[in-house]
Amino acid sequence: MKVGILSGGGDAPGINAVIRAVVRKAIDRYGYEVIGIKDGWRGLLEGEVVSLDRDAVSGILPRGGSILGTSRTNPFKREGGPELILGNIRKLGIDALIAIGGDDTLGVAQKLYEMGLPCVGVPKTIDNDLACTDYTFGFNTAVSIATEALDRVHTTAEAHHRAMIIEVMGRHAGWIALEAGLAGGADCILIPEIAFDIEEICGYIKRRKMRGKNFSIVVVAEGAKPKGGEEVVYGTGVDEFGHVRLGGIGYFLGKEIERRTGLETRVVVLGHVQRGGSPTAFDRILATRLGIAAIDLVKEGKFGRMVALRGNEIVSVLLKEAVGKPKLVDPRLYEMASVFFG
Ligand code: F6P
Repeated sequence: MKVGILSGGGDAPGINAVIRAVVRKAIDRYGYEVIGIKDGWRGLLEGEVVSLDRDAVSGILPRGGSILGTSRTNPFKREGGPELILGNIRKLGIDALIAIGGDDTLGVAQKLYEMGLPCVGVPKTIDNDLACTDYTFGFNTAVSIATEALDRVHTTAEAHHRAMIIEVMGRHAGWIALEAGLAGGADCILIPEIAFDIEEICGYIKRRKMRGKNFSIVVVAEGAKPKGGEEVVYGTGVDEFGHVRLGGIGYFLGKEIERRTGLETRVVVLGHVQRGGSPTAFDRILATRLGIAAIDLVKEGKFGRMVALRGNEIVSVLLKEAVGKPKLVDPRLYEMASVFFG
C-alpha cells in the first residue's frame, strides 16, 4: 500500500507532527510506503513528490511550518485540473491520500473523493473554524501567542495611559480573538460574527477612564466589521478559493478611538507571528492523535472521512459534513465574554 500525504492552505503549527505520526505508524505498524506531496494540490498537479521514511520525519515534531510546503492552489480552478490529479495519482501508484487542511483543502478532497480518489482528511487551521471538530490543531498555539502579546501590550498601555488595539487572525470566525481576549483580560473583543458599534466601544473606554483606568486593550479579529460597514481589505484581488486578503481593521479602529475618546492609541497587528514557530504541547499531541487516526482510517478502508476531536475522543466524520459551513463563535460565549467589557 502506498499512501500520499499533503498539506494545503495556510500553515498551522502541528502539520509536521501529523506527518510524523502518519509516517511512523504507516511504516512501523502497517508496512506501508508513504509519499509526501509538495505544496498541497500543486504537487499533485505537477507530480512533485518526495519519499517519506523514518529519517525524513526525524526531529520534526516541534517544528512549525510544513516539511512538505503548502499552497492555496485550487485544482478546480485549472482546466482539466481534477483529471490531471487523478491521472498523476495513478501514475505515482498512490492507493490512498491523506489531506491535511482547512475548509478549502478538504473541500477539494471531498470533490476528488466523489470522483473516485480514496481520501482521508485531517482538520487544520489556526482559525478553528472547521465544522464537526471541537478544535483544529494550530489554534491553541495561535491563542497562546496572542495571549502573550496581550499580556505584553497591557504593561506598556498602562505605563503610557494609552488604548492599544491588537488585530488577530480570523477571517469568518472570531475564535482567536475571543479566546485570547478572555485569557488576556481584554476590555473589548470584536469578532466577525457580530458587527460592532464604534460608539459602544468608545463608551467602554470612557467608562474605564472615569473609573481611573487610563488605558484599555481592544482585541479585534481581522474579519470584524462595523455595523452597516464592510471588512477592511489589504489590496485588491482574491486567491484561488475566492478569499480577499484581510487586514487593517485595527488601524481603522485606532484612529476612530483616538479621535472620539481623546486617548492616545496604538495598533499592533499580530499577523503571521500567530502561525509561525513551534506548536504548543496541546497542538503537538492533538496533531499526533489526528495523524494516527488518519492512517488507521486508511488501514480500515474508510475513505471520504475526516478525523476529528469530540470532547477528548478522536472520532471520524463524513468529509462532506465538515466542509462548506464554517464553525462560528457561539453567541452565548461572546455574551459571557462581554461581562468583562469596559
Ligand atoms: O489560514 C487561515 C488564515 O490564517 C486566516 O486567518 C488569514 O486570513 C489567512 O490565513 C492569511 O493567509 P495568507 O497566509 O495567505 O496571508
